[in-house]
Amino acid sequence: MNDMTPDQEILEPIEIASRDEITALQERRMAWSLRHAYENSPFYRKRLDEHGAHPDGFQTLADLAKFPFTMKQDLRDTYPFGMFAVPREQLVRIHASSGTTGKPTVVGYTKNDIDHWADVVARSIRASGGRKGDIAHIAYGYGLFTGGLGAHYGAERLGCTVVPISGGMTERQVTLINDFKPRIIMVTPSYMLSILDEFHRQGLDPRQSSLRVGIFGAEPWTNALRQEIEHAFDMQAVDIYGLSEVMGPGVACECVETKDGLHVWEDHFYPEIIDPQTGEVLPDGQMGELVFTTLTKEGLPMIRYRTRDLTRILPGTARSMRRIEKITGRCDDMIILRGVNVFPTQVEEQILKCAGLAPHFQIELIRDGRMDAMVVHVECTADRCAPEARAASKNELAHYIKSVIGVSAQVVVHDPDFITRSEGKAKRVVDSRPK
Ligand code: DLL
Repeated sequence: MNDMTPDQEILEPIEIASRDEITALQERRMAWSLRHAYENSPFYRKRLDEHGAHPDGFQTLADLAKFPFTMKQDLRDTYPFGMFAVPREQLVRIHASSGTTGKPTVVGYTKNDIDHWADVVARSIRASGGRKGDIAHIAYGYGLFTGGLGAHYGAERLGCTVVPISGGMTERQVTLINDFKPRIIMVTPSYMLSILDEFHRQGLDPRQSSLRVGIFGAEPWTNALRQEIEHAFDMQAVDIYGLSEVMGPGVACECVETKDGLHVWEDHFYPEIIDPQTGEVLPDGQMGELVFTTLTKEGLPMIRYRTRDLTRILPGTARSMRRIEKITGRCDDMIILRGVNVFPTQVEEQILKCAGLAPHFQIELIRDGRMDAMVVHVECTADRCAPEARAASKNELAHYIKSVIGVSAQVVVHDPDFITRSEGKAKRVVDSRPK
């Protein structure tokens, strides 16, 4: 595994800088970013004035806590272009996230922003074990979603040969992987499972494929799924994180040599963890909601953006920059059943313990009398479809969910291919409760 450890000379100086150097850079850049937002975005000027905060009041990173949060709703309220801090003509790119309800949230980038984004994605691919000259198969969706184009510019920046296949047409994905022989694949982990199924459908051994590095993100996934994918493809599976409001993919990424959480590229994005209820800043090591302030972004600076993602901050290991633990889930995806908090990732972990079940699943929320209840829809593996085998898998999963997560769930074991396959982000929870 350590043949993937990068030679020190290919790292950027900031990746191995001292904590003091990183802090000094962050303070300098933060002062610039707060002032830039205040002076150039009418939205931020009003928000900071209302809150009694002013860029002059920022001296050290501890002062950031005096500044107000920014939320997704602020982007909706100022739709489409109301939060930008540069004249529209200086934006060279727009992305947008569809959102489940109402208007999409729109983000914009200057030429410098695109340049920094390519740098952090290139750094992420290198951290994942990718190298100049590799072929990179990019199956994140291209378009308004930041995944495809974000990965694309970063892979080009690193010096890869990019195959911009985008998501979907799974049969062709497998054909091109076989024909072009990419060493790197960048795709959501759930779509990687669809690609894995297609390898089997075509009678191909995925372990014989050329893929050696998978850079997976855009949705929560577990270490159990990492092991499943690594084993199935004989590859390294690395976690990449990001969000469009802050930039896109490449805000944080794991290093292949440690795979112990995602290093936040702290020279561009300043992380905090807060208590989601009170907004209080929590010390490193404590679980809470991840908040980011951008340090270099021109088009759409973000001050204390509440991501809704739950994790904790850990010290640096393979790089000096701090890590976030693999995201447990989003506040919005948390299911509360009889007082117990449940995340889809916890259910995924239990499913992967059951040899007779495939890794595809969906959680349905129903009303059982006056209580909410959870139905877990899963599939049997092709070799364990007989009624007795299915019943055993069903009981096994229900037992794990009860004993490890602490809630009772109905488990329904379907035929293979029953669950709708993801081509991007999987939809893990469907709410069938009466309105
Ligand atoms: O998903 C950007 C991205 C693309 C990241 C490709 C990684 C790879 P959005 O569509 O704005 O942007 O969604 C952002 O997705 O707040 C998290 O809830 C979730 N998310 C992204 N990466 C991860 C990850 C892109 N590695 C939202 N683990 C975020 C868990 C993730 N959740």
